[in-house]
Amino acid sequence: MRYEGTNAVVIGGTHGMGLATAKMLVEGGAKVLVTGRNGKNVEDARRELGTEAHVVRSDASDMSDIALLAAVVGQKLGRIDFLHVNVGVAELEPFEQVTEASYDRQFNVNTKGAFFTVQRLSPLIRDGGSIVMTSSVADEGGEAGMSVYSATKAALVSFASGFAVELLGRGIRVNVVSPGFIKTPTKGVAGLSAEEREAFEKIGNEVTPMKRHGTPEEVARAVLFLAFEATFTTGAKLAVDGGLGQKIAAPQ
Ligand SMILES: NC(=O)c1ccc[n+]([C@@H]2O[C@H](COP(=O)([O-])OP(=O)(O)OC[C@H]3O[C@@H](n4cnc5c(N)ncnc54)[C@H](OP(=O)(O)O)[C@@H]3O)[C@@H](O)[C@H]2O)c1
Repeated sequence: MRYEGTNAVVIGGTHGMGLATAKMLVEGGAKVLVTGRNGKNVEDARRELGTEAHVVRSDASDMSDIALLAAVVGQKLGRIDFLHVNVGVAELEPFEQVTEASYDRQFNVNTKGAFFTVQRLSPLIRDGGSIVMTSSVADEGGEAGMSVYSATKAALVSFASGFAVELLGRGIRVNVVSPGFIKTPTKGVAGLSAEEREAFEKIGNEVTPMKRHGTPEEVARAVLFLAFEATFTTGAKLAVDGGLGQKIAAPQ
Protein backbone atom coordinates (compact mmCIF):
# COMPACT_ATOMS: atom_id res chain seq x y z
CA MET A 1 0.00 0.00 0.00
CA ARG A 2 1.06 3.55 -0.84
CA TYR A 3 1.66 4.90 2.68
CA GLU A 4 2.45 1.64 4.45
CA GLY A 5 4.98 2.11 7.25
CA THR A 6 4.42 5.86 7.53
CA ASN A 7 3.06 7.84 10.48
CA ALA A 8 1.05 11.02 9.99
CA VAL A 9 -0.62 13.66 12.16
CA VAL A 10 -3.54 15.78 10.93
CA ILE A 11 -4.30 18.82 13.11
CA GLY A 12 -8.00 19.56 12.53
CA GLY A 13 -9.01 16.33 10.83
CA THR A 14 -12.40 15.37 12.24
CA HIS A 15 -14.42 16.60 9.24
CA GLY A 16 -14.00 18.39 5.91
CA MET A 17 -10.73 18.29 4.03
CA GLY A 18 -8.65 17.20 7.03
CA LEU A 19 -10.84 14.12 7.40
CA ALA A 20 -10.59 13.39 3.65
CA THR A 21 -6.79 13.52 3.93
CA ALA A 22 -6.78 11.30 7.03
CA LYS A 23 -9.01 8.76 5.26
CA MET A 24 -6.71 8.58 2.22
CA LEU A 25 -3.75 8.06 4.53
CA VAL A 26 -5.50 5.27 6.45
CA GLU A 27 -6.65 3.62 3.21
CA GLY A 28 -3.04 3.80 1.99
CA GLY A 29 -1.80 1.94 5.07
CA ALA A 30 -0.48 4.85 7.18
CA LYS A 31 -0.87 5.10 10.95
CA VAL A 32 -2.67 8.36 11.61
CA LEU A 33 -3.39 10.62 14.57
CA VAL A 34 -6.09 13.20 14.01
CA THR A 35 -7.16 16.09 16.25
CA GLY A 36 -10.32 18.13 16.64
CA ARG A 37 -11.93 20.22 19.33
CA ASN A 38 -15.64 19.39 19.31
CA GLY A 39 -16.33 16.17 21.28
CA LYS A 40 -19.13 14.90 19.03
CA ASN A 41 -17.05 15.46 15.89
CA VAL A 42 -14.19 13.57 17.57
CA GLU A 43 -16.52 10.61 18.24
CA ASP A 44 -17.89 10.67 14.66
CA ALA A 45 -14.36 10.74 13.21
CA ARG A 46 -13.36 7.79 15.43
CA ARG A 47 -16.17 5.74 13.93
CA GLU A 48 -15.39 6.88 10.40
CA LEU A 49 -11.62 6.30 10.51
CA GLY A 50 -11.64 2.99 12.39
CA THR A 51 -9.06 1.42 14.63
CA GLU A 52 -6.01 2.35 12.53
CA ALA A 53 -6.45 5.98 13.55
CA HIS A 54 -6.10 7.74 16.89
CA VAL A 55 -8.57 10.61 17.20
CA VAL A 56 -7.63 13.01 19.97
CA ARG A 57 -9.51 15.96 21.41
CA SER A 58 -7.05 18.86 21.42
CA ASP A 59 -7.64 22.60 21.09
CA ALA A 60 -5.13 24.13 18.68
CA SER A 61 -5.52 27.53 20.37
CA ASP A 62 -4.53 26.20 23.80
CA MET A 63 -0.80 26.12 24.54
CA SER A 64 -1.11 23.41 27.20
CA ASP A 65 -3.14 21.23 24.80
CA ILE A 66 -0.40 21.65 22.17
CA ALA A 67 2.28 20.61 24.66
CA LEU A 68 0.21 17.61 25.75
CA LEU A 69 -0.45 16.67 22.12
CA ALA A 70 3.29 16.45 21.44
CA ALA A 71 3.57 13.94 24.29
CA VAL A 72 0.55 11.94 23.04
CA VAL A 73 1.90 11.81 19.47
CA GLY A 74 5.27 10.64 20.78
CA GLN A 75 3.58 7.94 22.83
CA LYS A 76 1.11 6.71 20.17
CA LEU A 77 3.21 7.04 17.00
CA GLY A 78 6.81 7.81 17.99
CA ARG A 79 8.54 9.42 15.00
CA ILE A 80 6.27 10.86 12.32
CA ASP A 81 6.75 11.25 8.57
CA PHE A 82 4.14 13.89 7.91
CA LEU A 83 2.53 16.73 9.89
CA HIS A 84 -0.53 18.39 8.35
CA VAL A 85 -1.58 21.64 10.01
CA ASN A 86 -5.06 21.93 8.53
CA VAL A 87 -6.91 23.61 11.38
CA GLY A 88 -8.49 26.99 10.70
CA VAL A 89 -11.49 29.15 11.57
CA ALA A 90 -13.04 32.09 9.74
CA GLU A 91 -15.53 34.60 11.07
CA LEU A 92 -17.05 36.73 8.34
CA GLU A 93 -17.56 40.33 9.51
CA PRO A 94 -16.94 43.82 8.15
CA PHE A 95 -13.83 45.27 9.77
CA GLU A 96 -15.93 47.84 11.66
CA GLN A 97 -17.65 44.98 13.50
CA VAL A 98 -14.53 42.99 14.39
CA THR A 99 -14.16 42.66 18.17
CA GLU A 100 -11.05 41.86 20.16
CA ALA A 101 -12.64 38.47 20.93
CA SER A 102 -13.29 37.49 17.28
CA TYR A 103 -9.85 38.82 16.28
CA ASP A 104 -8.20 36.70 18.99
CA ARG A 105 -10.26 33.58 18.17
CA GLN A 106 -9.03 33.57 14.57
CA PHE A 107 -5.41 34.52 15.26
CA ASN A 108 -5.17 32.11 18.22
CA VAL A 109 -6.16 29.10 16.07
CA ASN A 110 -4.96 29.90 12.57
CA THR A 111 -1.72 31.69 13.38
CA LYS A 112 -0.50 31.26 16.96
CA GLY A 113 -1.85 27.71 17.18
CA ALA A 114 -0.32 26.74 13.85
CA PHE A 115 3.05 28.24 14.79
CA PHE A 116 3.37 26.53 18.17
CA THR A 117 2.01 23.24 16.83
CA VAL A 118 4.88 23.13 14.33
CA GLN A 119 7.37 24.27 16.99
CA ARG A 120 6.26 21.54 19.43
CA LEU A 121 5.73 18.69 16.97
CA SER A 122 8.63 19.22 14.53
CA PRO A 123 11.14 17.48 16.84
CA LEU A 124 9.04 14.32 16.31
CA ILE A 125 9.26 14.52 12.49
CA ARG A 126 11.93 12.23 11.15
CA ASP A 127 14.67 13.81 9.02
CA GLY A 128 13.44 13.81 5.42
CA GLY A 129 9.78 14.10 6.46
CA SER A 130 7.39 16.88 5.53
CA ILE A 131 4.86 19.46 6.73
CA VAL A 132 1.86 20.82 4.82
CA MET A 133 -0.09 23.81 6.16
CA THR A 134 -3.55 24.81 4.92
CA SER A 135 -3.97 28.44 3.93
CA SER A 136 -6.73 29.92 1.77
CA VAL A 137 -7.23 31.73 -1.52
CA ALA A 138 -8.02 34.67 0.79
CA ASP A 139 -4.38 34.88 1.95
CA GLU A 140 -3.69 37.42 -0.84
CA GLY A 141 -5.63 40.50 -1.91
CA GLY A 142 -8.69 41.87 -0.17
CA GLU A 143 -12.08 40.26 0.43
CA ALA A 144 -15.02 42.00 2.10
CA GLY A 145 -15.67 40.62 5.58
CA MET A 146 -12.39 38.70 5.67
CA SER A 147 -9.78 41.21 6.81
CA VAL A 148 -8.84 39.28 9.96
CA TYR A 149 -9.11 35.79 8.46
CA SER A 150 -7.03 36.82 5.42
CA ALA A 151 -4.33 38.24 7.66
CA THR A 152 -4.19 35.06 9.76
CA LYS A 153 -3.58 33.01 6.62
CA ALA A 154 -1.07 35.48 5.14
CA ALA A 155 0.92 35.11 8.37
CA LEU A 156 0.63 31.32 8.11
CA VAL A 157 2.16 31.39 4.61
CA SER A 158 4.99 33.53 5.96
CA PHE A 159 5.56 31.05 8.80
CA ALA A 160 5.74 28.21 6.29
CA SER A 161 8.55 30.02 4.43
CA GLY A 162 10.44 30.50 7.69
CA PHE A 163 9.96 26.85 8.72
CA ALA A 164 11.06 25.70 5.25
CA VAL A 165 14.38 27.50 5.69
CA GLU A 166 14.95 26.46 9.29
CA LEU A 167 14.14 22.81 8.65
CA LEU A 168 16.23 22.50 5.46
CA GLY A 169 19.13 21.10 7.47
CA ARG A 170 16.97 18.17 8.56
CA GLY A 171 15.68 17.57 5.03
CA ILE A 172 12.12 18.40 6.14
CA ARG A 173 10.07 20.03 3.37
CA VAL A 174 7.41 22.58 4.31
CA ASN A 175 4.69 23.56 1.84
CA VAL A 176 1.28 25.20 1.78
CA VAL A 177 -1.97 24.16 0.13
CA SER A 178 -4.29 27.05 -0.67
CA PRO A 179 -7.92 26.03 -1.21
CA GLY A 180 -10.62 28.14 -2.83
CA PHE A 181 -14.32 27.37 -2.27
CA ILE A 182 -14.47 23.74 -1.06
CA LYS A 183 -17.65 21.82 -0.27
CA THR A 184 -17.06 20.95 3.40
CA PRO A 185 -19.71 20.78 6.15
CA THR A 186 -18.74 24.18 7.62
CA LYS A 187 -17.32 25.84 4.47
CA GLY A 188 -14.53 26.78 6.83
CA VAL A 189 -16.69 29.57 8.31
CA ALA A 190 -17.88 29.60 11.92
CA GLY A 191 -21.57 29.96 12.74
CA LEU A 192 -23.17 30.12 9.28
CA SER A 193 -26.93 29.48 9.21
CA ALA A 194 -28.28 27.11 6.53
CA GLU A 195 -29.43 30.12 4.44
CA GLU A 196 -26.09 31.88 4.80
CA ARG A 197 -24.30 28.70 3.80
CA GLU A 198 -26.47 28.39 0.72
CA ALA A 199 -25.84 32.04 -0.24
CA PHE A 200 -22.10 31.61 0.35
CA GLU A 201 -22.09 28.50 -1.83
CA LYS A 202 -23.91 30.31 -4.63
CA ILE A 203 -21.31 33.10 -4.59
CA GLY A 204 -18.51 30.52 -4.66
CA ASN A 205 -19.94 28.80 -7.73
CA GLU A 206 -20.37 32.16 -9.49
CA VAL A 207 -16.95 33.67 -8.81
CA THR A 208 -14.86 30.53 -9.35
CA PRO A 209 -13.62 30.31 -12.98
CA MET A 210 -14.41 26.54 -13.02
CA LYS A 211 -17.96 27.43 -11.87
CA ARG A 212 -18.13 24.89 -9.07
CA HIS A 213 -16.83 24.09 -5.58
CA GLY A 214 -13.87 21.79 -5.09
CA THR A 215 -14.25 18.57 -3.10
CA PRO A 216 -12.37 17.71 0.11
CA GLU A 217 -10.81 14.81 -1.81
CA GLU A 218 -9.40 17.16 -4.46
CA VAL A 219 -7.65 19.10 -1.69
CA ALA A 220 -6.52 15.88 0.05
CA ARG A 221 -4.84 14.65 -3.15
CA ALA A 222 -2.90 17.94 -3.42
CA VAL A 223 -1.90 17.73 0.25
CA LEU A 224 -0.61 14.16 -0.13
CA PHE A 225 1.22 15.08 -3.35
CA LEU A 226 3.09 17.83 -1.46
CA ALA A 227 3.62 15.54 1.52
CA PHE A 228 5.04 12.47 -0.19
CA GLU A 229 5.67 12.99 -3.91
CA ALA A 230 6.93 16.56 -4.32
CA THR A 231 10.43 15.65 -3.17
CA PHE A 232 12.10 18.69 -4.83
CA THR A 233 9.53 21.21 -3.56
CA THR A 234 9.78 23.23 -0.37
CA GLY A 235 8.57 26.69 0.66
CA ALA A 236 5.91 26.50 -2.08
CA LYS A 237 2.17 27.21 -2.17
CA LEU A 238 -0.13 25.04 -4.27
CA ALA A 239 -3.54 26.50 -5.14
CA VAL A 240 -6.56 24.18 -5.28
CA ASP A 241 -9.12 26.82 -6.16
CA GLY A 242 -10.68 26.17 -9.58
CA GLY A 243 -8.67 29.12 -10.91
CA LEU A 244 -10.10 31.63 -8.41
CA GLY A 245 -6.81 33.08 -7.21
CA GLN A 246 -5.08 32.77 -10.58
CA LYS A 247 -4.62 35.32 -13.34
CA ILE A 248 -7.26 33.81 -15.59
CA ALA A 249 -10.59 35.27 -16.59
CA ALA A 250 -13.82 33.48 -15.71
CA PRO A 251 -15.87 32.43 -18.77
CA GLN A 252 -18.85 34.73 -19.42
N1 LIG B 1 -14.01 25.09 3.25
C1 LIG B 1 -13.50 26.03 2.50
O1 LIG B 1 -14.13 26.46 1.51
C2 LIG B 1 -12.12 26.60 2.79
C3 LIG B 1 -11.55 27.48 1.86
C4 LIG B 1 -10.26 27.96 2.07
C5 LIG B 1 -9.54 27.56 3.18
N2 LIG B 1 -10.11 26.72 4.09
C6 LIG B 1 -9.27 26.27 5.21
O2 LIG B 1 -9.16 24.87 5.10
C7 LIG B 1 -9.05 24.27 6.39
C8 LIG B 1 -10.10 23.19 6.55
O3 LIG B 1 -11.40 23.73 6.37
P1 LIG B 1 -12.72 22.81 6.39
O4 LIG B 1 -13.78 23.63 5.73
O5 LIG B 1 -12.38 21.46 5.88
O6 LIG B 1 -13.11 22.55 7.91
P2 LIG B 1 -13.20 23.43 9.23
O7 LIG B 1 -14.57 23.74 9.62
O8 LIG B 1 -12.28 24.59 9.05
O9 LIG B 1 -12.61 22.41 10.32
C9 LIG B 1 -11.45 21.72 10.11
C10 LIG B 1 -11.04 20.94 11.33
O10 LIG B 1 -10.48 21.84 12.29
C11 LIG B 1 -10.98 21.49 13.57
N3 LIG B 1 -10.87 22.63 14.47
C12 LIG B 1 -11.47 23.84 14.41
N4 LIG B 1 -11.05 24.61 15.44
C13 LIG B 1 -10.19 23.85 16.16
C14 LIG B 1 -9.39 24.06 17.30
N5 LIG B 1 -9.40 25.21 17.97
N6 LIG B 1 -8.60 23.05 17.74
C15 LIG B 1 -8.56 21.87 17.10
N7 LIG B 1 -9.26 21.61 16.00
C16 LIG B 1 -10.08 22.58 15.54
C17 LIG B 1 -12.38 21.03 13.29
O11 LIG B 1 -12.85 20.24 14.36
P3 LIG B 1 -14.04 20.68 15.36
O12 LIG B 1 -15.27 20.90 14.55
O13 LIG B 1 -14.10 19.50 16.26
O14 LIG B 1 -13.58 21.91 16.07
C18 LIG B 1 -12.16 20.18 12.04
O15 LIG B 1 -11.67 18.91 12.37
C19 LIG B 1 -9.14 25.43 7.37
O16 LIG B 1 -7.83 25.86 7.70
C20 LIG B 1 -9.84 26.52 6.59
O17 LIG B 1 -9.50 27.83 7.05
C21 LIG B 1 -11.39 26.23 3.92
